[in-house]
Amino acid sequence: MVEVPQHLKGRDFTRMATWSPDDLKTVLDLADELKGLQHRREDHRLLPGRTLGMIFQKPSTRTRVSFEVGIAQLGGHGLYLRADDLQLGRGETIRDTATVLSRYLDAIMIRTFSQDDVEQLAEHATIPVINGLTDTAHPCQALGDLMTIRERLGRLSGVRIAYLGDGNNVCASLMLGASKFGMRFTAATPSGYEPEENVVKSARRSAVQSGGTVELTHDPRAAARGADVLYTDVWTSMGQDAERERRLKDLAGFGIDQELLGQAGSDAIVLHCLPAHYGEEITQEVVYGPQSAVWDEAENRLHAQKALLALVVR
Ligand code: CP
Ligand code: NVA
Repeated sequence: MVEVPQHLKGRDFTRMATWSPDDLKTVLDLADELKGLQHRREDHRLLPGRTLGMIFQKPSTRTRVSFEVGIAQLGGHGLYLRADDLQLGRGETIRDTATVLSRYLDAIMIRTFSQDDVEQLAEHATIPVINGLTDTAHPCQALGDLMTIRERLGRLSGVRIAYLGDGNNVCASLMLGASKFGMRFTAATPSGYEPEENVVKSARRSAVQSGGTVELTHDPRAAARGADVLYTDVWTSMGQDAERERRLKDLAGFGIDQELLGQAGSDAIVLHCLPAHYGEEITQEVVYGPQSAVWDEAENRLHAQKALLALVVR
């Protein structure tokens, strides 16, 4: 059976910033190991009988299925909890919800709007709380992304990654993650769509420690030139549908197509957290083309989250 380090037991994973590079590396290393075990169909029931509650206030394909399948493969059980069906949706407080759920469950994963709600849940729960996406962060996605980059390129340090489009939740967590591993990160966004200033500051502080860099630009071609990884995400995130028309106009020219990929070179890989909106932030040709690593990236959510669960759940 796999050796699981014990020092992360009980930890919350609400955002990238609070996890050290060493601790994140522990997750990525275990994720690689669990991927091998899963592909060889070898036993790795590391969490027998444990229950993961999964609260969803927004839709999901990957996060829901990968967490539910992941906890089952670890020998435990996943419970899908639609936020609107909980008393939380009728005004029960986050504190009371956290306190009660801690008596039944072994861990909580939550996808919601406000990052503060996730932090509050983590503060009051006595079991680990994992952020499955908020308006400002998507740290589980960043774990899967880093795992995929390391798997494809053999390293993280020094890798040049260009994020193109909306400086959103996915961009923020990826930037923070990249900055902890000495990566050279550039976000190319239109003016007004830059990642949040406090996140950029935090990433730059990490980059100083790791030997990485964090740059912002408004020029997608300059960002793509010579990059090892091109990354993008939807231009209209969940909860922003009323802004869709404006966003389509503002973000035009920041999509990844074959021509932009040509700037990066033939060894570069393309990532997208999915779901994709073809003809907006990326073309179908690129996603199904030879440089795309998006399907491995989606699969790696499963392995990275299993590693995270195995490390934090008691
Ligand atoms: N990338 C991602 O989190 O996908 P879902 O919204 O389908 O979970
Ligand atoms: N930025 C997107 C990511 C979806 C996985 C959103 O928040 O909708």
